[in-house]
Parts: sequence; C-alpha cells; structure tokens
Amino acid sequence: MSYPVALLTSGGDAPGMNAAIRAATALLVAAGHPVVGVQNGYRGLLAGKLEPLGMREVGGILRDGGTMLGSARSPEMHDPAHRARARQHLVAAGVGGLIVIGGNGSLAGAMALTDPDEAPDFTCRVIGIPASIDNDIGYTGMAIGVDTAINTIVEACDKISDTASAHDRTFIVEVMGRDCGYLAMTAAIAAGADAVLFRESEKRPDEIVDTVARVVLRARERAGRAQRVIVIKSEGTPISNDQLKARVDERLVELLGHEGPPVETRVTVLGHIVRGGRPSAFDRLLASRLAHVAVRALLSGEHRKMAAWLLPGEMPAEAGQRSASDPYCYLVDLAEVMAETKRLLEGTSPLVRWRRSVFESVEDVLPL
Ligand code: F6P
Repeated sequence: MSYPVALLTSGGDAPGMNAAIRAATALLVAAGHPVVGVQNGYRGLLAGKLEPLGMREVGGILRDGGTMLGSARSPEMHDPAHRARARQHLVAAGVGGLIVIGGNGSLAGAMALTDPDEAPDFTCRVIGIPASIDNDIGYTGMAIGVDTAINTIVEACDKISDTASAHDRTFIVEVMGRDCGYLAMTAAIAAGADAVLFRESEKRPDEIVDTVARVVLRARERAGRAQRVIVIKSEGTPISNDQLKARVDERLVELLGHEGPPVETRVTVLGHIVRGGRPSAFDRLLASRLAHVAVRALLSGEHRKMAAWLLPGEMPAEAGQRSASDPYCYLVDLAEVMAETKRLLEGTSPLVRWRRSVFESVEDVLPL
C-alpha cells in the first residue's frame, strides 16, 4: 500500500541531515511512496505545514549543512493537547509513516506522539534517525553531524594554535556540547590540546582552575616555540569562561610572579560555528546509510525504533537487533534509546564511566 511517508528534522540541526533527507526520499520514491516534508520540525507539524518532497526538491542538498526542511525546538510537544493536534495533521494528510531525524528531544517527541496509551487509534508508525552534533544519544556510536563538528573544532584549534604559539599564549576554546563532553574530548585528542574540560569529569571549579594552571606551568618547561597551551572546554563545564580566565591568570601570577612570558590567557567561543558547514564524507555516508536502514525498517512494518550504527557486539541483545538490511547497523527500541540517553547524561552509563577514566589516565600526558 502506497501511503505517504513524512520526514521531519527537529532540534539542533546537524551537518548530514540533508543527506539523510535525500537518501530517504530517493528510497521512498523508488518504493512508490509519496513523501512529504514537515517544515520546521514539530513546530511546523503543529501548524500543519507539510509539503510534498520529490527528487527535484532534494537534488543537490547532499553537500549542504543545516536542513532544507528547517528545524525548531518545540516545547509545545510536552503538552498532550498539542500532540493531539500534531496527530490530526498527519491523519488528515494520510501519513502512514514518519521518519524523525534529530537528537534526544526529537526522539522523545516521536515516542510521545505515538504513545499507544495516549493515542490508541493512531496507526502512523515512526522510526528515528540519530542526528545531533553532541553525540549524546544512547546506543549509537556516532550520530549524524558529529564527525563534521569534530573536524570544524580541530581546524579552528589548528588555526588558534598558530597564533598561540607565536605569542606563547594560553587559549581556552569553548565548544558546544550542552550536557555531553564528547565533542570536547575527541577534538582535544585530534587537535593535540593540552587539556580538556568537560562536565562528566565531575571536577569542581577549584580543581578545574588547578588543572589549567598546572598545564600552563608544564608548558613553560618546554623548549622553543612549544609553550602555547590549548584548553578545550565543553560548554557544560561548571565554571564560566570569564571566571576561569580570571582565576587561572590570578593563580599563575601567584605562582610565577612576573618571570618568563607574561600570563596571557585568551578565550575563544566557537559556538554555533561548530554546528554548521558542509557535511564531511563520513557524515554523508552515515546519514545515507541510516536513512536506508530506517526506510527499510519502516516499510517492513517496524515501529518506535531508531536506526543505529554500532560495532558488532556493542548492542545489548535486549535493546536492539541487527538490521536486516545492513550488518553494521541496528534497530533499537526507542524506549531503550531514551533510557540509555538518560544514563549517558546522568553519567551512570558504563560508556561515560569509561570515557571519564580514560581522560583521568591520560590527563598528565596530554597533548598525546
Ligand atoms: O545541537 C545541540 C546543541 O548544539 C548544544 O550543544 C547546544 O547547547 C545547543 O544545541 C544550542 O542550541 P540552540 O541553538 O537552540 O541555542
């Protein structure tokens, strides 16, 4: 039966969302399903903004960052009355399947929209595709957008490193990652940073100041032009940039007096730059691959699942099953995804404990 399938992107956009939209549209059109694009995420769904999508609309979007469908943060979706309205719009358009491309808030919205207790007669099936630069979604190795974001941070840090080396300065580079320090951690290794600060380390502000001051002292023992310090700070770290800079400078003046190069700490906030730009080849591939898994799953009758990319053996059997269409991808129950995401953000997931312990063990040998 050729029921229409809707595609929706929501929450923080991520490079590669367009690649997922393009691949899903191509596969659905080839399977004979009309495709509709929901404009501006759940906000557009609540307003009934559904537009037909075809190969002409998605032509050329593979290379573009952002999302051609638009996105939004939609707190209204917490309200059952609004969710009922969203369902009415899907039913009115005859939509039988919905693919939600986004982060944990977007996937939570998909769960609530299709909650059988709240809406027992709503038959539209839903499949999620993880897309968020924060990489804070449970049971997927990489979400769409993460690789591009890491590359953007590394490129920025390489540039900052040039001027930092020229002046023997310390730079604190703040990167996105509201509740998850994954971007900061991975970019720190790839950029050869001297230290990385992230919420999951559970360091108190005093300890954070000590860490940075210690790293600067260590750098001052290096010879020649190797005294620059790059500290990558995840935005969720519990000390403001101004406070950190002021307290580090104060501590260094105490410790060093006025010997050697002056104490000059600079702060660069990369902010939304990290979320933009052309998707990397990896993100284009990942997005196309997850879209393939999601479309196949939807058309074979799966419901309330997320397409995930994980190494074989990393998925607990009770959470998800190997995808029938891709041996490296899985279909995970959305409820399990939500539960693991909560553990990731609370710091109780074994994965977070492992990340924390790795960074504790390498802290004194950075830059690796
Ligand atoms: O996309 C996730 C995220 O990048 C977080 O790391 C960041 O805190 C947040 O989005 C910013 O969102 P907004 O653009 O809605 O302010």
